[in-house]
Amino acid sequence: MTRETHLAPEQLVAPLFVCPGERVREPIASMPGQARLSPDLAAREAAELAELGVGSVILFGIPAEKDAEGTGAWDPDGPVPQAIRRIKAATPALNVWADVCLCEYTDHGHCGVLHGDGVDNDATLPLLARASVAYARAGADVIAPSDMMDGRVAAIRAALDDHGFEQTVIVSYAVKYASAFYGPFRDAAGSTPQFGDRRSYQMDPPNVREAIREATADVDEGADMVMVKPGLPYLDVIRAVREHVDVPVAAYQVSGEFAMLHAAAERGWIDLPRAMMETSIALRRAGADILITYFARELATLLRAQPHPAAVAETIR
Ligand code: PBG
Repeated sequence: MTRETHLAPEQLVAPLFVCPGERVREPIASMPGQARLSPDLAAREAAELAELGVGSVILFGIPAEKDAEGTGAWDPDGPVPQAIRRIKAATPALNVWADVCLCEYTDHGHCGVLHGDGVDNDATLPLLARASVAYARAGADVIAPSDMMDGRVAAIRAALDDHGFEQTVIVSYAVKYASAFYGPFRDAAGSTPQFGDRRSYQMDPPNVREAIREATADVDEGADMVMVKPGLPYLDVIRAVREHVDVPVAAYQVSGEFAMLHAAAERGWIDLPRAMMETSIALRRAGADILITYFARELATLLRAQPHPAAVAETIR
């Protein structure tokens, strides 16, 4: 009766890793319950998530081959466009988000193209725009750039509009920290940088004013929603961003947060369902409207099991 914050399945976004092939399911060791799925199995998983009430999925691609430019990112027959087409055909009401970044597609593992030892911000923008158009053309509802290049939201918005995708939504990973918590994801996607790190384009963990500047810049460039990532170590940042922008704010509980909870639970040190629910509601309480979480399936299952006023009304009738 007195609870101030609620969590609903439609606020959840489930990440899916899509690899080439048919009937392929490769479990990811550091992310219990998660697997790389071929487009057919990703579509089946998406249908089950939708059945549980989960609002959206976000797709990450694992291409057959990588190169210096990340050309696989805009291959119309790559695993992500294939999965988008299959999911939208089978489960049209589910929102399909496509993560846009080059790091899964480049052989060096950086999020943009290289110039000398560094990432060339401006040369990367047209490539991100090209990938975005490919995903929109396959039917993605949402384009979610996670590369952290400056100016990419404007470049992607212009390219989408030029190709007739005015209705495609942009959710920007506006506030993405250079974090230790992405380790398991990089295992899953094979996207660990081959040299250096991502600190020239991702944010410095001590900064919060900079987060507001990043979020505001992305909204000005046309972002329809902004994201803060990781989640739990940055609750204050979520709150600050929520108070400074008018668009919805999403929080990403990342792979390392997920792995950490699983590892402690495996040792019997914490109760996983409770910790999962508590960390999720904490992100909502901090100000996140939407949660991207590897617990989406389990959360939706738990939330459905709890008596809901509508269900109670049904039994009275
Ligand atoms: C790609 C990307 C990353 C994540 C989402 N998109 C990894 C990174 O920046 O290295 C991390 C997600 C997670 O850890 O769950 N740029």
